[in-house]
Amino acid sequence: KSRVYQALVNPILEDLVDLMAKSKYEYVKLFEKDDSLLLNTWLVVRLDGKSFHKFSAAHHFEKPNDKNALDLMNQCAIAVMNEINDIVLGYGESDEYRKSCNLYGRRESKILTTIVSLFSSNYVFHWKHYFPTKELLYPPSFDGRVVLYPSDENLRDYLSWRQADCHINNLYNTCFWALVHSGKTESEAENTLR
Ligand code: GTP
Ligand code: MG
Repeated sequence: KSRVYQALVNPILEDLVDLMAKSKYEYVKLFEKDDSLLLNTWLVVRLDGKSFHKFSAAHHFEKPNDKNALDLMNQCAIAVMNEINDIVLGYGESDEYRKSCNLYGRRESKILTTIVSLFSSNYVFHWKHYFPTKELLYPPSFDGRVVLYPSDENLRDYLSWRQADCHINNLYNTCFWALVHSGKTESEAENTLR
């Protein structure tokens, strides 16, 4: 009886002991990719609203700039920065947001997923405050990427590039919609600006 008992029970016990020592299955952790980001570089996390052309049309955002929509984006960035103290700067343009930061052992996926999900949940959470009479029609989402900049000059040039981009687009859109509101068709406005 005791031999049969041992033959049946021992392997189970061994498994249990292994499990408790976390040795038998723990190897699966080796399949996780080490994605720690290069030391001594600025991390820029760029978020971008997914299909916000459609989202802004569906929610009748004002053209070219919807103050409530932009304030909501800023509120999301403020909430993310309040939560994650390593972020030193936030800059927003249109449906985009980006930060320079240093945290979570510089693990790329951890930094990116935390920031993107925090930003998205805040967008939904604060929607009512900025659009009290407008129902959120479907859940918005954002994509994200991390870009590394090795020098202060690179980082400054990156921000200058985005600021110039914002300026050019805003100037174009402001003129375009002013022409449309003055009675021109959209293609006439485009031709005038060209
Ligand atoms: P993907 O990012 O590739 O998923 O596409 P997207 O549709 O989000 O386009 P993209 O990120 O290139 O551009 C953002 C779009 O959001 C703009 O083209 C506008 O249509 C819209 N948008 C952003 N801010 C405003 C705003 O203040 N008012 C209005 N009306 N639209 C805005
Ligand atoms: Mg977008």
